[in-house]
Amino acid sequence: MLSNQAAESGKRKSLHGHWSSRMAFVLAVTGSAVGLGNVWKFPYVAGQNGGGAFVIVYLLCVVLVGMPVMMSEILIGRRGRRNPVATMALLGEEEGSSKRWQWVGGMGVLAGIMILSFYSVIAGWTLAYIVKSATGVFTGADAATVGAQFDGFVGDWRAVAFCHTLFMGLTIFVVMRGVERGLEQAVRFMVPALLVLMLVLLGYSVTSGHFGEGLSFMFTPDFSKLSWDSVLAAMGQAFFTLSIGMGAIMAYGAYLPEETSIMGASGAVVTADTLIAILAGLVIFPLVFANGLDPADGPGLVFQTLPLALGQMPGGAFFSTLFFILLSFAAWTSALGLMEPAVAWVVERFSKTRAQAAIIIGGMIWLLGFGTVFSFNVLADVSFYKGTIFLNLDHLTNNIMLPLGGLFIAVFAGWIMCRNSTAEELGGAGFFYRIWRLLARFVVPVGILFVFLKAVGLLPDLS
Ligand code: TRP
Repeated sequence: MLSNQAAESGKRKSLHGHWSSRMAFVLAVTGSAVGLGNVWKFPYVAGQNGGGAFVIVYLLCVVLVGMPVMMSEILIGRRGRRNPVATMALLGEEEGSSKRWQWVGGMGVLAGIMILSFYSVIAGWTLAYIVKSATGVFTGADAATVGAQFDGFVGDWRAVAFCHTLFMGLTIFVVMRGVERGLEQAVRFMVPALLVLMLVLLGYSVTSGHFGEGLSFMFTPDFSKLSWDSVLAAMGQAFFTLSIGMGAIMAYGAYLPEETSIMGASGAVVTADTLIAILAGLVIFPLVFANGLDPADGPGLVFQTLPLALGQMPGGAFFSTLFFILLSFAAWTSALGLMEPAVAWVVERFSKTRAQAAIIIGGMIWLLGFGTVFSFNVLADVSFYKGTIFLNLDHLTNNIMLPLGGLFIAVFAGWIMCRNSTAEELGGAGFFYRIWRLLARFVVPVGILFVFLKAVGLLPDLS
C-alpha cells in the first residue's frame, strides 16, 4: 500500500514511501480508529459512567475536539513527512518556534508503546474467544457459566500470556513486512464486514425484548449523574477511539499524497468510527438488561454479553466465532497504527530497517504487556492510584497523555503554524477552514484544559 513513488507535487518526500491512493489512506486510518475502543471499550466505559450523559459528552468531544485534532495531525504529518518526533522538530523550527516541539512527538511514541502493551492483552482475549466460540463452549450456556468462563480464563496468566504473545507476534510480523498489501486487504474487508455483522447482531438485540431499555440507557441523559471524572473519561474515550493525540495519525499523514482532501478523509473516518461505536452500544446494552447483567461490569462486558446471547441463538457458535474473528482483525489493524510512531522513529533516528525496528519495539511492548497480563490474576490485588497496573496504564494514556498530546497538537497547528501553511494543507482558507481554525485555536485547548482542571478539582463549582 505504500508505493515508493513520492507524491507528485510533494515538496518533501517520506522515507517510508506513500499511500498508493486516497482510499488506501482512508482505509488505513479507519483501520486504526475502528478497534477494541469501539466494541470492547466504549460500551463498558459508557456503562461505568452512567450511560446517556456520558454518550452525549463523548459525541460532543468527537465533533468539537476529535475532528479538528485529527485534521491537525494529518496536516502536520503531511507537511513534515517524517516520524512524529522529527516532524515536530522540523516544523517547530520552520515555523519560527523551537525544536523542542519534538517532545510532543516523543510523548506520542511513548503513549503508543504503553497503549499497545495493554491493547495486545485484550486482543489476545479476543483470539482465545474465537476458539472458545468455535468449539461450542458457549452453546446453550447460562450467564453464570459464561461469567465463570471469563473469570477462569483471565485468571490463568499462562493462557492470557500465550494469547498476548500470539497477538504481538502477528502484529510484529505485519509491521516488519512494511505494511504492504496485507493490511489494505484486511481493512477493505474487515470494516464493512464488521459493520454488517453489527447490524445482524442489532437485529437480534432489537428482538431481545429489552431494546427500549438499552436505548434509553444510552441516550437518556441524566447530567446529575455525570462527574467531571466522567467527562474526562468521555474525552479520553474520544481520543482513544479516534487514535488521535499520540502522533499515529501524524505518522500515517506523512505518507499521504499532496492532493488528498484532509477534511474529507477525516470526516469519513470519524463517521465510520462513531457509527461502529454506537452500534456496539446498541447491540450490547439490550443484551445486558435482557440477561440481568450490570452495565458497569467493566472490561469483561463484551466477553460476557455476546457469547451468552449468541449461545442461545440458532447458529450462535458460528456468529460468535465470526464476531471474535472480526474483532481480532479490527484490533490487529489498530495495533499496527499504535506501533507506527515508535517504529518510524527508530527507523529514522537509529538507521534501522523496518524489520529490526518492529522487533525491538514489539519486544519491548510484549515485555511491558506482562504488567497487564498479571493485572487480572497474580497481581490482581496489587492496587495503587487508580487500581491495578492495567487500570493505571489505561488512565494515564487515555485520560492524560492523549488529551495532553491533542492539546499541544492543536496549539501547534492553530497558533505556531502560520495561516498560510495550514490553509495550504487544508485546501484554501474557506468557510470550513475558518471553522477548523477556530476550533483548533480556542475550543480544543480551552476545552481540554477546562476538563483537566475540573477533573482534578482545581476549578470551583459555580452552582
Ligand atoms: N483507536 C483504537 C481503537 O479504538 C485504539 C488506538 C488508540 C489506536 N490510539 C491509537 C490505534 C493509535 C492506532 C493508533 O481500538
